[in-house]
Amino acid sequence: MSLQRMDTLLKAARKQHIALGAFECWDSLNVEGIARAAAATHSPVIFQATAMEFGSIGGAEALACIVNYYIKRFDIDAALHLDHGASIEEVEECVKAGYSSVMLDASIHPFEENVRLSKMAADIAHAHNASCEAELGHVGGGDGGVGTESVLTVPGEAAEFVRRTGVDCLAVAIGTVHGEYKGKPELKLDRLAEIAATVEEPLVLHGGSGTPIDLLQAAIKLGIAKINICTDINKAFLAGIEEARATKTPSLAGYFYRPAVASLQKKTEELIRQFRCEK
Ligand code: 13P
Repeated sequence: MSLQRMDTLLKAARKQHIALGAFECWDSLNVEGIARAAAATHSPVIFQATAMEFGSIGGAEALACIVNYYIKRFDIDAALHLDHGASIEEVEECVKAGYSSVMLDASIHPFEENVRLSKMAADIAHAHNASCEAELGHVGGGDGGVGTESVLTVPGEAAEFVRRTGVDCLAVAIGTVHGEYKGKPELKLDRLAEIAATVEEPLVLHGGSGTPIDLLQAAIKLGIAKINICTDINKAFLAGIEEARATKTPSLAGYFYRPAVASLQKKTEELIRQFRCEK
């Protein structure tokens, strides 16, 4: 069991009509909870972080050290992925730190500029034996008006985008949002089916939290092989702290963080099992 290229794990997942959870990492406790969940479910897992998230641990390399420690300790297969990379410099920093996958998020740009930037990222990733994700269309933010508006992926553009960029997996915008939904979640499954018919690479769904599981499982059957989760596991982590806060004294920090890890682990296990479409 070891750190793997993310596309290796995702190709196998798409073949099996399952998805892997890609969980945001913001400290060593939450990495531990994710690793424990992967071990308990005997499932590969994707650790991922944006620059803001790995910045809160001490940088790209610090996260790589922590993730590699837990991969060994719990003997799991996993990928380490840069999520929503904001620049070529971030991509370079992460592949040099040993990340097995990167995303340069150029999804707010027009098609040709997205192709240009995503191809640059893919070339850098491949030169370091890492894989590359890009997003076509744009998954916006749903949190209380912050963030951007979603733009749905145009099915007719997807195959050309993947061919011209050389990316190994494609994130699509089909109705999910980052953060909490403002209204009732609805996925454009017909649109996903059209995309999946022309792109054989694994498809990625951002904004997994709060999406009803029957919709996610329908999307998995159509070709989604990676589901990004942040809000749901952060809520579980904070719930563990809040529960302890009712009875414990702040002078003993361990009383707060062990329940937080346990709560995050439980939620992560539940999601991993659901994404495997277990009966
Ligand atoms: P959620 O917070 O909605 O799970 O979205 C996470 C995500 O897509 C990270 O890229």
